[in-house]
Amino acid sequence: MHYAENLEAVNPDLNPEIMERVDEMIHRYADKPGSLIPILEECQEIVGYVPVELQEYVARELNIPGSTVYGVVTFYSFFSMVPKGRHTIKVCMGTACYVRGIGEVLNRICSEFKMDVGGTTKDRRFSLEAVRCLGACGLAPVIVVNDDIHGDVSAGKIMDILGGYE
Ligand code: FES
Repeated sequence: MHYAENLEAVNPDLNPEIMERVDEMIHRYADKPGSLIPILEECQEIVGYVPVELQEYVARELNIPGSTVYGVVTFYSFFSMVPKGRHTIKVCMGTACYVRGIGEVLNRICSEFKMDVGGTTKDRRFSLEAVRCLGACGLAPVIVVNDDIHGDVSAGKIMDILGGYE
């Protein structure tokens, strides 16, 4: 049995259809040197993130150490090792937002959705990121959901705002 066929048992996101696409893609690169990063980029496009099991698979296919693949995935912030939600919440942790109470907003989001910064809700509705000044300090405190800027947010208002994103 090909190793790819076992992956679904350890990670349901790596089902046979997905792994077939991954295989085709890896074979397209064949033995081209310097192909690790593009392969990982395509893995992230196909699967949505690059879980450890997939890193090990790529390492095995390319005949390189798993630690090399892990090193690349963790070095570039573009790569994610956790699944992304349908909506990304960016919480501004810049000074203006901080002094105007973004901390309370962040705590509310974390406790309501039981996720931490860098995490994703179990139902993959939201991912949460903390970012530096978004350049909209006049609206502080600020969050961005996908491409929508929400200013003057508060712990009281945040659930209503996020309710608009299913
Ligand atoms: S500090 Fe939050 S937008 Fe500038």
